[in-house]
Amino acid sequence: MTYDLVIRGGTVATASDVVRCDVGIRGGRVAALGADLPRGEKEIDATGRYVLPGGVDSHCHIEQPGSVGGQNADTFVTGTTSAACGGTTTVICFSPQKRGGSVKEAAENYHRIASKSVIDYSFHIVINDPSEQVLEELPKLIEDGHRSLKIFMTYDSNFVDDSQVLKILEVARRNQALVCVHAENHEAIKWMTARLLDAGLTHPRYHSWSKPPVVEREAVHRVIALAEMVDQPIQIFHVTCGEAAEEIRRAQARGLKVFGETCAQYFVLTEDDMDRPGFEGAKYICSPSPRHAREHDALWRYVASGTLDIVTSDHAPYMYEGPTGKKVRGDNAPFNIIPNGVPGVETRLPIVFSEGVVGGRIDLSTFVAITSANPAKLFGLYPKKGTIAVGADADIAIWDPARKVTIRNDDLHSAMDYTPFEGMEVTGWPVMTISRGEVLWNNGEVTAEPGRGEFLARDPYDYIKPRGIFPTPFDPITGEVGSSR
Ligand code: URP
Ligand code: ZN
Ligand code: ZN
Repeated sequence: MTYDLVIRGGTVATASDVVRCDVGIRGGRVAALGADLPRGEKEIDATGRYVLPGGVDSHCHIEQPGSVGGQNADTFVTGTTSAACGGTTTVICFSPQKRGGSVKEAAENYHRIASKSVIDYSFHIVINDPSEQVLEELPKLIEDGHRSLKIFMTYDSNFVDDSQVLKILEVARRNQALVCVHAENHEAIKWMTARLLDAGLTHPRYHSWSKPPVVEREAVHRVIALAEMVDQPIQIFHVTCGEAAEEIRRAQARGLKVFGETCAQYFVLTEDDMDRPGFEGAKYICSPSPRHAREHDALWRYVASGTLDIVTSDHAPYMYEGPTGKKVRGDNAPFNIIPNGVPGVETRLPIVFSEGVVGGRIDLSTFVAITSANPAKLFGLYPKKGTIAVGADADIAIWDPARKVTIRNDDLHSAMDYTPFEGMEVTGWPVMTISRGEVLWNNGEVTAEPGRGEFLARDPYDYIKPRGIFPTPFDPITGEVGSSR
């Protein structure tokens, strides 16, 4: 039987191997890997190129309202087209709950919105308010394949307190879901924000002063402790600094199922980016706040050692101009009411490749691991996604590893009017992106059709299996007294 497509002569890299071979694709899946495969209906010459699994970006805000006002600029069409043009073939986005509202209705609505996606997608279920109704709705939603819940420990409109965190961890534990956490100490941020505003310090630069690393470290430590009480696996989102990563390392050393994510922007942006004249610094406001440049190296060390095993974009696109973005509360708004978030779904892979692989900080297989294989594994999508192996979906990005690109927003495909990485020079860029055997992006040409993306429902999988170990002989889930310690 012939192949629909053969990618010939490239260097194929997965999270475990780097080999020179051809890839034969049939029916949207990888059908063979080997030397000198027979001709396919179509052929792609990948000589001198890297042939990598398509990126899995497990942290993307697309077509969502913002936590401090505003609305994401990207729709599912523009956001996922932008993802594809940057070599990403799967995104996990956020089904947002309004306080007092139903998570079931929110998810139904978000499914309608996401059906325009050009690449495959899945959802985290955001819980801002674990009411009785929400706790009753969650088991069915999880069973239907929404196997990760997202909580915020800060933002007035989103934060959940410790008693609510425990309730959400418990429902996840009983129904086999992962819990992903935005960890920052809300009360400490509120207190410091009030002091800064009292002192007349309102410029965007004071965003980072209102939430220094200690508020992140404390919340990471606290949520790990709460998860340990419930014996519930968690992922800490967007770790920005060594001291927060160190809390995760210590938890992992105790055997806890605590996973750590960082994002491409935390390797390259700093607190000084918010210290630009006028309102310009608002373009760089995201939470947690970009740190001192010394944290870049600290993050790379925790990535290289495996403590932080996933690098996402936290794509959160708020326009600079216009009524729904950074200026939603005016073009001189104080730092605490400016929408938080930066765009980055298209630039994530090139920045991590350039800083990481070309910069000599990680090898090619580690790059594939942190940007594709590990998120696919942690979120129950592997080996359908995250690798190039017989039977896997033919989700592939073909890279020119030597291409030098100066990042310009005008060349990107998001609906955004700026990129925080404008003018940054990177080496390496995906020149072609293939999803289930279909070419979506080919050397400057977008061929992606809106609506072709499929929802990825997730069954139970090993990462979310609890350990069965509690801090005392009492099992709070079954109510039994045993000897699990
Ligand atoms: O600043 C950020 N990261 N905005 C997006 C929402 C969130 O915090 O995850
Ligand atoms: Zn967050
Ligand atoms: Zn986020």
